Amino acid sequence: MLDPSRILERCDALARHSELPGGLTRVFLSPESRAASELVLGWMREAGMGARLDAIGNCAGRYEASEPGAPCVMLGSHLDTVRDAGRYDGMLGVITAIECVHALHAQKKRLPFAIEVLGFGDEEGVRFGTTLLGSRAVAGIFDASVLSLQDASGVSMEKALRDFGLDPQEIPRLGRKKGQVLAYAELHIEQGPVLEAEGLPVGVVTAINGFSRLRVTLKGEAGHAGTVPMRLRRDALAAAAECVLAVERIAKGDPELVGTVGRLEAKPGAINVIPGEVMFTIDFRAPRDELREEAVSRSLAEAGRIAERRGIKTQVEPLQSLGVTQCSEWLMVQLERAVAAEGVGVRRLPSGAGHDGMALKAITDIAMLFVRCKAGISHNPAEAITREDAAIGARILHRFLSSFDAGHRLSA
Ligand code: GLV
Ligand code: MN
Ligand code: MN
Repeated sequence: MLDPSRILERCDALARHSELPGGLTRVFLSPESRAASELVLGWMREAGMGARLDAIGNCAGRYEASEPGAPCVMLGSHLDTVRDAGRYDGMLGVITAIECVHALHAQKKRLPFAIEVLGFGDEEGVRFGTTLLGSRAVAGIFDASVLSLQDASGVSMEKALRDFGLDPQEIPRLGRKKGQVLAYAELHIEQGPVLEAEGLPVGVVTAINGFSRLRVTLKGEAGHAGTVPMRLRRDALAAAAECVLAVERIAKGDPELVGTVGRLEAKPGAINVIPGEVMFTIDFRAPRDELREEAVSRSLAEAGRIAERRGIKTQVEPLQSLGVTQCSEWLMVQLERAVAAEGVGVRRLPSGAGHDGMALKAITDIAMLFVRCKAGISHNPAEAITREDAAIGARILHRFLSSFDAGHRLSA
């Protein structure tokens, strides 16, 4: 029996493991992520799975097929959060997947394929500035050069892994081969307002928009706020302010494009000092790669012009970019059948947010089911879903699994 109350209670239980008192922040390889992982591994075992923490810090559970060793359908999402996060982004997908396995186990039911549930240790990229670390490792596309990236306290990813008791040299072994994973399916909150506006509890994702992330540093000259005349200043923060507005203007130029400056740090950061150096980030997303790439080039060209006019030096560091990731038609059709069988209207929609499926696509076909969230709000403590929608999402995922037909891929 699927138990939607247990799904929501488990989301609440994970939300208690947070570095932010009274809120939710849980980043990769933190003490809070260890505590959350222990809970998740326990729930996986209770649901009849073999479960372990893998070398990148993912919770990895496997429910054997009727024939042990058979390929799997992989379900999953992430267990890390942004800062001051909601409690469903990522966690709902992991917990609902465990709930589906729990229901199969309670009925002593095995399927012709194994089910693997992955609670990815890092999807958001908050700690090291690069995303999808857990799912990249499982997809065999983990780039070992990121091990030298440092967090805000100067701790490298390699050291953080070792301090967590993990061996970075084991990461390449996590990569699954094509054929071992029949499909990857992820349930996730929508993080947007479309389903709510249309009165639908769920939607089937068609594709995940691509993203580009960059870090820009502007160097001007610090000086006394009282003595340096305005015409002689090289104020890096005033230049950055113009750049932020340029990003916004460019992003507003196309309804399919979004652009965000989410971090901005000014040095030395005193009320009576002209800011000499500013670092800010840019995040562009679009359903078409050319549109996103053009937005990045235009923003950087504009930042260059702004800086030149103000006598400021610029340094640009591309952090990460990924193209649009298509969900597979044969899986969308199977998900839609499960949606329709629940008596729910079928709706396809793209994802503006990034998801672990972007990495898994390197080894298998992917599908996603979105569950409506209140007012489309996410990356915000106000993130909310109803018990009823959690129940519908779980029933659809369970039905999708129970009637999953891998052979369909050949004819699709
Ligand atoms: C992850 O949530 C992202 O889309 O940034
Ligand atoms: Mn997120
Ligand atoms: Mn997410």
